[in-house]
Amino acid sequence: MTAFFRKPAVLAAGLGAIGLAAASQLYQKEPIKKNTLGLSPLPKDTSVVFVLGGPGAGKGTQCANIVKDYGFVHLSAGDLLREERQRKGSPYGELINNIIKEGQIVPMEITISLLHAAMKANGGTRFLIDGFPRAIDQGEKFEDEVVKSKMVLYFECPEEEMLKRLTKRGETSGRVDDNIESIIKRFKVFKETSYPVIELYKDKVEKVSCMNTVDGVYNDTKRALEKHFPSK
Ligand code: C5P
Ligand code: MG
Repeated sequence: MTAFFRKPAVLAAGLGAIGLAAASQLYQKEPIKKNTLGLSPLPKDTSVVFVLGGPGAGKGTQCANIVKDYGFVHLSAGDLLREERQRKGSPYGELINNIIKEGQIVPMEITISLLHAAMKANGGTRFLIDGFPRAIDQGEKFEDEVVKSKMVLYFECPEEEMLKRLTKRGETSGRVDDNIESIIKRFKVFKETSYPVIELYKDKVEKVSCMNTVDGVYNDTKRALEKHFPSK
């Protein structure tokens, strides 16, 4: 230490100055921030049910029944993406269209922002989020930044059955992905990327078989739902 710093008062002032300089240097560096989507909070009593199942498993049909009887708001991630694709001036229209046609997964930031905006716009507190999450990271991000899901309804369906239903639906749906090439790609993505989500949430998953009449599946669906949302 130099003679200059031997005097205690000068030493203290010197250390103080060094401290200030260090602090100001730190302050000027990029602030360390988490990479968040910056979404506004939802009401504290918001409940979310994730509704999963391969393409054509009957998620939309069963959600419509639940809405009638239990007062949930039904939001389909696929429908929201298709709407956004059609929206004039959307910067994502072409990207979404190409990804859907390929049966791949749209970047989660887009889907989560659309879901959050739709939840806000609907204003309810009970939501069926259908066709989401399609990948583990989507679920984690949504639960971190929007709300934790209360349960997961999983419609289990063999591929042959889904193929039969999607081919039939393709006759009238006009969807760019209800054709055999897209269907095969969607099955692959479901198996490899979406199915692991069911395992991630195994503690709150309720499995319902799709191999029944619509009413039969709905009876099982009600039973599963009421474990987590008992009717009054
Ligand atoms: O659920 P649905 O079959 O309507 O989804 C259609 C397509 O939308 C999916 O195959 C996928 O390309 C896209 N999608 C997505 N992420 C989601 C839901 C749907 O990328 N969470
Ligand atoms: Mg659907």
